[in-house]
Parts: sequence; C-alpha cells; structure tokens
Amino acid sequence: MLSLRSLTVVAGALSCVNAGLINWPPKPVNYWFAFGDSYTTIGFEPNGTLPSVGNPLGNPAFPGDTGGGGENFVGFDTLTYNKSLILTYDYAVGGAVIDPTLVAPLTLSLPDEVDQFVDGAAKKPENARWTSENALFSVWIGINDIGNTFFLGGDRDAFADLLLDRYFAQVQRLVRNSYHLGSAGARQFLFINVPPTYRAPLIMGFFPDQLDVGKIVIEHFNAKLSNKIREFERKNRGVKTWTWDSYTLFNRILDSPRKYGFNDNVTSHGEQGDFWGNSYHPSSPAHRIFAKEISKELAWTRWFWGSWF
Ligand SMILES: *[C@@H]1O[C@H](CO)[C@@H](O)[C@H](O)[C@H]1NC(C)=O
Ligand SMILES: *[C@@H]1O[C@H](CO)[C@@H](O)[C@H](O)[C@H]1NC(C)=O
Ligand SMILES: *[C@@H]1O[C@H](CO)[C@@H](O)[C@H](O)[C@H]1NC(C)=O
Repeated sequence: MLSLRSLTVVAGALSCVNAGLINWPPKPVNYWFAFGDSYTTIGFEPNGTLPSVGNPLGNPAFPGDTGGGGENFVGFDTLTYNKSLILTYDYAVGGAVIDPTLVAPLTLSLPDEVDQFVDGAAKKPENARWTSENALFSVWIGINDIGNTFFLGGDRDAFADLLLDRYFAQVQRLVRNSYHLGSAGARQFLFINVPPTYRAPLIMGFFPDQLDVGKIVIEHFNAKLSNKIREFERKNRGVKTWTWDSYTLFNRILDSPRKYGFNDNVTSHGEQGDFWGNSYHPSSPAHRIFAKEISKELAWTRWFWGSWF
C-alpha cells in the first residue's frame, strides 16, 4: 500500500513533469532569409540583435524601418500568418538594385545582401542551425532597377536579360555557398515579381507620358523572370520554387480598391485608407493583404501549413 508520503513524492514529481511540459517538446524552429529592397526591408542589421525565439525578427524594434511605414509583409508573415515558429533574417535594404554596376544603388545591393548572408547565417552558427528543409529564401527585387531605367529607351528587353542573368548569379550563390558540415544549402525559394509601379504616384508624377512604356517594360521583365525561375529549378537538383505574382494582385487591388478596404482614389497616399503609404510604397494595410496571399501560396509548406483561406 502506498503511504501518504510516497503519494506526495509522486504528486510532486508529476507537477515537475507538468511544468516541464509547458515548454516541451520545444516548437520546431523554421527560418526565412529574405532579400530585396524597400518593399521588403525592415531595417534589419545583420551585426545587431539576431532573430531568436521570442524576438523572431531580431532588430530593429518591431515593426522596423519599412518603405511604406508600419508593419510590412515580412512582419505579418513572421508574426501573424505564420503557422510555425519562423526566425526571419531580412537582409533587404531600401534602394537596393540587382547589380550596382548596371543601375546606381542608393546604398547596398543584392550582392551585398548575399554577402551578408554568406558571411553570417550561411555558416549555420549556433543561433541559426537551419537546414535545406526548414529554410525559406525569398527574393523580391527589380523594382528600383526598372523604376530607374524604364524610360531610357534602347533595348529594354536586352537590359532585362542582363539584369536577370545578374539576379540569378546571386541566387545561385545562395545555393552554392551555403554548404556546411556536409549538409546542403538553400533549396527552397520564393520569388516575387515586379509590381505595377507605373501606377505608383511617384512614377505617375515624374513620367505621365511614359506609363504605358513602364507597363510593357515590367510585363516583359516579369515574363522573363518566370522563365528564369523555371530554368533555375531545372538546373539545380532538389531546388523547389514558388512565385508570388505581386503584379496581378497590385492591379486587382488598384482596379477595385473598395473591395479590399481602400479609398477609391488610388493616387492619394499617406492618408488613412490609402493603398499607398507614400508616393512609391504600399501602406501597411496593403502589406497585410500581400502577406496573407503569400501564406496562401505557401499553404502546403511547413512555414504556412494550412493557410488555405
Ligand atoms: C552595424 O554596421 C553598420 C554599418 O557598418 C553600423 O552603422 C551599425 O552601427 C552597426 N550596428 C551595430 C548594432 O553594431
Ligand atoms: C507565429 O509566430 C509567433 C512569433 O514567433 C509565435 O509565437 C507563434 O507561436 C507562431 N505561430 C505558430 C502557429 O507557430
Ligand atoms: C486623388 O488624390 C490626389 C493626391 O492627393 C489628388 O491630387 C487628386 O485630386 C485626388 N483625386 C480625386 C478625384 O479626388
């Protein structure tokens, strides 16, 4: 027969187990390495506080320093639409271009962002033991490259080919340079195409007579991007890609802003209810819609499993 004392011991042991169970098993951690420009940046500095459980975006203080002000899609997808614990390293920098030798950048460009990854998290340090399976790599770039050149005349298609060659040389570095301890590197990629920035108030103001040119240049770039993504997937065994078609969603929203909760005037910016947060960047409510769409696109993946609706 059990004595009162041994019952107490058993109960004590059980309550210890219970306390432990609250954090056990630990949630599996997934990773997201994001590259891009002001549409993606949160102002993260890879030499600052790194992402960790409880602070999944690292630095700066949430929602960070974003292009349109307030939380952007990176924040919403990491914190709101995530269906897993995602530690997000957002290397994107405002003004970034694909290649600084082709289009003058504001500060850093895609190759610098890839350098930062290669010099840091790619080495899979103690605080970022990512694997090919649990790490998502996203790239949303080309907005500045096109925004700064579409009006120049000449062979814009040839220029798009050149941009895309340089773009995928950097993407290839993510695959190639991230081998460590015998494990494979980047394998899962989300690409985002160039949105219709010829509908952004800034571009409309500067180039009122060349908006149709902007439209064609962006559409051709995006068509070539699709081909490039397919080629990239074909050439790299084990690589899986997703594409989020921002071009189509931006147009859908700008064509029927009310349906998405925005003001009718889609050239107004920075006011409550505007699609645009400022003259060149979507507002935070717009980013929330983008984030939701991305989570649906990735509904079959470990990061956003089940985000069908
Ligand atoms: C990170 O590096 C940048 C650029 O060199 C510098 O301006 C910044 O102060 C550094 N941040 C930290 C937290 O060390
Ligand atoms: C989403 O991310 C937050 C912040 O890291 C985390 O607390 C939450 O558990 C995550 N959601 C799921 C379903 O894992
Ligand atoms: C839309 O907003 C812009 C920018 O604020 C303004 O110039 C324009 O007059 C507005 N259009 C209408 C129809 O109200």
